[in-house]
This record gives sequence, C-alpha cells and structure tokens, in this order.
Amino acid sequence: MTLYSRVRPLAFTLPPERAHALGKQALRAVQSTYPTRAAVSYAYQYDHPALEVDAFGTRFPNPVGVAAGFDKNAEVTHALESLGFGFVEIGTVTPYAQTGNDRPRLFRLREDRGMINRLGFNGHGMEAIKSRLERDGVPDVPLGVNVGKMNTSSEAEAIEDYRRVFDRLSPFADYVVVNVSCPNTPETFDESSPEQLRTIFETLEAENEAEKPILVKVGPDSPDESVLELVDIVREFDVDGIVATNTTTEREGLESPNREERGGLSGEPLADRSTELVRTLAEYTDGELPIVGVGGVDSAERAYEKVRAGASLVQLYTGFVYEGPSTAKRINRGLVELLERDGFSSVEEAVGADLE
Ligand SMILES: Cc1cc2nc3c(=O)[nH]c(=O)nc-3n(C[C@H](O)[C@H](O)[C@H](O)COP(=O)(O)O)c2cc1C
Repeated sequence: MTLYSRVRPLAFTLPPERAHALGKQALRAVQSTYPTRAAVSYAYQYDHPALEVDAFGTRFPNPVGVAAGFDKNAEVTHALESLGFGFVEIGTVTPYAQTGNDRPRLFRLREDRGMINRLGFNGHGMEAIKSRLERDGVPDVPLGVNVGKMNTSSEAEAIEDYRRVFDRLSPFADYVVVNVSCPNTPETFDESSPEQLRTIFETLEAENEAEKPILVKVGPDSPDESVLELVDIVREFDVDGIVATNTTTEREGLESPNREERGGLSGEPLADRSTELVRTLAEYTDGELPIVGVGGVDSAERAYEKVRAGASLVQLYTGFVYEGPSTAKRINRGLVELLERDGFSSVEEAVGADLE
C-alpha cells in the first residue's frame, strides 16, 4: 500500500479544486529547496536508456509527460520533473489573467476513474508566467507551452492572442502547442475552421524565427474525417506534431453521480477513444508526424497501448490525480518491463508496432 493510497481518501473528501490547490502547495514546498528536490528526485525518478525518445528535435528522458492544465501557470515544473516526468506542458496560457467559469467547475467521477472540468481557461496570464519562468528557470526536462486565446476574443483578436502568447513564451519552450480543442470556452466561432486554422498557423510561422517546434492539440469528438482535414491543413505549414486528445463531451457508459455535469470528461472513460484517434492519425500520417497520446493514461499498459498505436510520447493529468506522486515512476518502470517482454530495445522501436 502506497502512502498516497492512504492519503487519497482524505484528499477526496475535499472539493477537487481545493485538493488540487493543496497538492500544488505540497509540490511548491518540494521545489522550494535543493535538498527536498533532490530527495524527491531520488525517491521518484526512474532512468533507463530504453525510455529515451527523440521527437521534433528534442530529447526526452522518458515518454511520460504532464498534460496541459495541471500546471497552467508554471508554478511547479521543477517538482514535476523531480517526480520523474519526462516533460511538462504548462498552460493553456492566455494573454491576460482570466478567472474562468463560476465554481464548482471541477468534478470527480470516482466510480469511472474520471473527471469533468469546465474551468474555462482560468490562469495568471502570459506576463506573470513569463516573470515566473525567468525567476525560477525552466526544468531540465523539456518544457511545452500550450497557447490559447481569451474567452472574450473575437475571431480576429484570437489570432493576435495566439501570436502574443507565442512571442512572449516560446523563448522558454522546447515546443509550443496550439490548443484549438477546448470544450469549455465560449464557442463564438469555430477555431478549427480551415480559414481560422490557416490564419493561426500562418501568423505563428511568421513569428517563429527561432524555429520552435509547433504542435496542434485536437479533440476526440469530431468525426475522423474532420480531424484528418485539420491534419491536412496544418501540414500545409511546418507543424511538427499532434497532441491527441483533449477532453470529451461524450458521456457514454458512466456510473458516477457527477456524470451529467457540463464540461470536458477526462481519465479512464476517454482512454480507448483517444488511443483510437492516435492510431487513425498515425496511419494517416505514415508515422511522419510525432504524436503525443493523451487521455486516460494511468498505468504502463495504458501508456504502452498508445505507444503501440503510434504515439512517440504520452501525457496524463487525471491518472496523476488518482495514482499520486509515484505515477510516472510506476509507468516508466512498467514500460521497460513491457518492452523487454515484447523484445523491443526501446520505446522508439515500439512506436506504431500495432499499425498494419
Ligand atoms: C482540470 C483539467 C484542466 C485542463 N486544462 C487544460 C488546458 O488548460 N489546456 C489543454 O489543452 N488541456 C487541458 N486539459 C486537458 C488535458 O490536458 C488532457 O488533454 C485531458 O485531460 C486528457 O488526459 P487525462 O485523461 O490524462 O486527464 C485539462 C484537463 C483537466 C482534467
């Protein structure tokens, strides 16, 4: 029995946002001194050469990253590195601070091992995050920056939002993600319409003198044809990868009392759909565009499924909430065992193993 499995029932008596805030406070304490960071790294990091991945010109020590939304404001990137994650994606970052939607806006679905959130891009805004990154430095593992727009922005303003956040924060990033798939922002226009996408990517490409890798994050709810059309569009530009997927508005097969809450569903109920989309994308792009698989990863088996379906890297958020601080270590250790069992010498060798 892990310590977290004893602490979790207590944490789960708190409202989820309160528990998240307390968890973040603990992580801030971890990263505040060198000895605590070193002690946590010693306890939780798991290194193995088979876990190293090269993707879009960046070297990842292991393929298990923290998904966007967990550390929206870049407050605990160093602690997450100490917990053994191979990369951390901050954001979604918007140009100015936003409070997001009214509370409650985050719900646990314990029976389903899921969560529903309708936070609505709450965050400190790009200037505060830039100052924090300058002050605290970036972690040693790759840092992704997920960029978004203000909830109130018009179609034209949205382009400028993406451009400004990119301009401010891409110098700190190993890769940038354009998030056009959040189910919780007001739908005043369709961000993933072909014209809007083209304008976003044209603008960022013009801004991208340092040639930072740019990825696009897609949702799981559109028909496959629409997602593939989106891929065609981003490939007209120099897009370096795809993050699949964001949360879902589907509610099939859920048991928890909170299942009717409005918002994006994450965790176990999303796992198969997101893996299916990873596979569709990997087949469609012939493995030429690195894919970051995200949705319901909470174990080595779940991570491995996504790798075999074509993901070069995986990320998680909800699995971390349910499994606690040793999540990355357990997944990485388990991945090495699964690779050995199946005769692969590295994660990279197993990417897309299940494809025809
Ligand atoms: C509370 C919460 C907040 C999130 N915020 C963001 C966000 O700001 N930007 C984003 O691109 N994805 C966000 N996500 C989606 C996650 O990055 C991820 O795509 C999704 O949760 C599926 O992964 P999981 O099943 O491991 O949680 C959020 C997810 C949760 C649960």
